[in-house]
Amino acid sequence: MKISIGCDHGGFKLKEKIKEYLTSKNIEVDDYGTFSSESVNYPNYAISVSKSVVDKKSDLGILCCGTGIGMSIVANKIPGIRAAVVGDTFSAKATKEHNNTNILCLGERVIGEGLALDIVDIWINAEFQGGRHQDRLDSITAVEQGNI
Ligand code: RB5
Repeated sequence: MKISIGCDHGGFKLKEKIKEYLTSKNIEVDDYGTFSSESVNYPNYAISVSKSVVDKKSDLGILCCGTGIGMSIVANKIPGIRAAVVGDTFSAKATKEHNNTNILCLGERVIGEGLALDIVDIWINAEFQGGRHQDRLDSITAVEQGNI
């Protein structure tokens, strides 16, 4: 499995921790930056990671900013991306099983490192359940394609 990761200055420390964690689990990581705590604009990183997922250069993406919210707003504008801000372990599992999210957004200023790594672990290992959930994703794709 390969995971693309990205962040702005507000999520830099958490992104580094996640990179370390994934690498320790022998998961390949593509790091799209940013690479310091210097102030940057989060949309650039959300777009790079989203494109890497849509272009199948990686299987999943993880984006960190102060809240996770800005990253999720941008990522969800890229056709083919289903991104969710997650701050608890129940939602981490549900958003893969039901929404088949391909990008996880985390807020470094909102949750601690321990919870963030638990969320990452649960989200990566959860599996989409298909069935009625696929029907709902098909409706989302129809919206993306302007068929509403
Ligand atoms: C940066 O200050 C902050 O706005 C950003 O990290 C994020 O929280 C935006 O949603």
